[in-house]
Amino acid sequence: MAASDALLRIEGLSKSFGGVAAMRDVSLAFPARSLSAVIGPNGAGKTTFFNLISGRFKADTGRILLDGADIVGASRQEIVRRGIGRAFQVASLFPTLTVAQALAASGHARQRSETRKLSQFPSPPATEAAREVMAQLNLTRVADVLSSNLSHGDQKLLDIGLALMLQPRVLLLDEPTAGMGPEERWQMIETVQRLWRERDLTLIFIEHDMDIVFKVAETVRVLSYGAVLAEGTPDEIRRNPAVIEAYLGKSAQGATA
Ligand SMILES: Nc1ncnc2c1ncn2[C@@H]1O[C@H](COP(=O)(O)OP(=O)(O)O)[C@@H](O)[C@H]1O
Ligand SMILES: [Mg+2]
Repeated sequence: MAASDALLRIEGLSKSFGGVAAMRDVSLAFPARSLSAVIGPNGAGKTTFFNLISGRFKADTGRILLDGADIVGASRQEIVRRGIGRAFQVASLFPTLTVAQALAASGHARQRSETRKLSQFPSPPATEAAREVMAQLNLTRVADVLSSNLSHGDQKLLDIGLALMLQPRVLLLDEPTAGMGPEERWQMIETVQRLWRERDLTLIFIEHDMDIVFKVAETVRVLSYGAVLAEGTPDEIRRNPAVIEAYLGKSAQGATA
C-alpha cells in the first residue's frame, strides 16, 4: 500500500501527559476502505491514539492527514464534519429518549451543521437515516425502548449508531466487544464487519481478543509504550518475535489484558 493512497495518514505523532510519553513519534497509514486493528498491552497508548485523531486531545507534534489535509488543532466538531467518527459511550446521555429518537436527534444535529454550510444540499431526513442505521445494526427490534433500558450489548450498538448518524468516512471503535461474553462478541464483530463493507468505511478498531483480531482485521498495528512495535497482516503479526515477547506471549498463556 503506497502511503500516498492512504485516506488517513499519521506522521510523527507525539503526546505527553505530564512526564508520561503516551504517544511517541507514531507514523501509520490507513488506506481508504481498509479494516485495521490496533492492539497492544494496557497503557500502550491505543486510546490516546484515538483521542488524538478525534481531536479530544491535541498532539504535541506531528500531523494527522485526512485526504491530505492536516486536522491537528481542528475542533472536535470540525473533525466530525470532515468525516472522522468515533463510538463514544454516549447512549447513556439520552436516558429519556428511545433508540429511534436518540438516533434521529444525532442526525438532526448533523443536518443543522450541514445546512449552515451547504443549504442547497439537505441531507435525507434524519428519521429515514435512523431507520437505515437501526436495520443495519439489528436495533429495529428495540427502536421504541428507552436508551437507559438497553442491554449492555445494545447500548454499544447504539453508541456505534449515533456515530454513524454523523456519516463518517473513518470510524474509530475502541474495544467494541468489551464486557461481552464470547458469543455476543462474535455477533458484535460480525455487525462491525458488515457495516465496514456496506458503508465503505475506513474502520480502525482496538481489540484485546486476539481470535477476533486475527480473523477479522486486514492489517494489524501493534503499539507498545506509545510507539509502533510492528505492523502487518495477521499472519505476520502472529509470528513476529517482538510482538510475541511484548504482548502475545501473555495472552497465549491465558492472561486477559
Ligand atoms: N488524559 C490523560 N491524562 C494523563 N495521562 C493519560 C491520559 N490519557 C492517557 N494517559 C496515559 O497515557 C498512557 C496510555 O494510555 P492509554 O492511551 O489509555 O492506553 P491504552 O488505551 O493502550 O490502554 C498511560 O500511561 C495513561 O496513564
Ligand atoms: Mg484504552
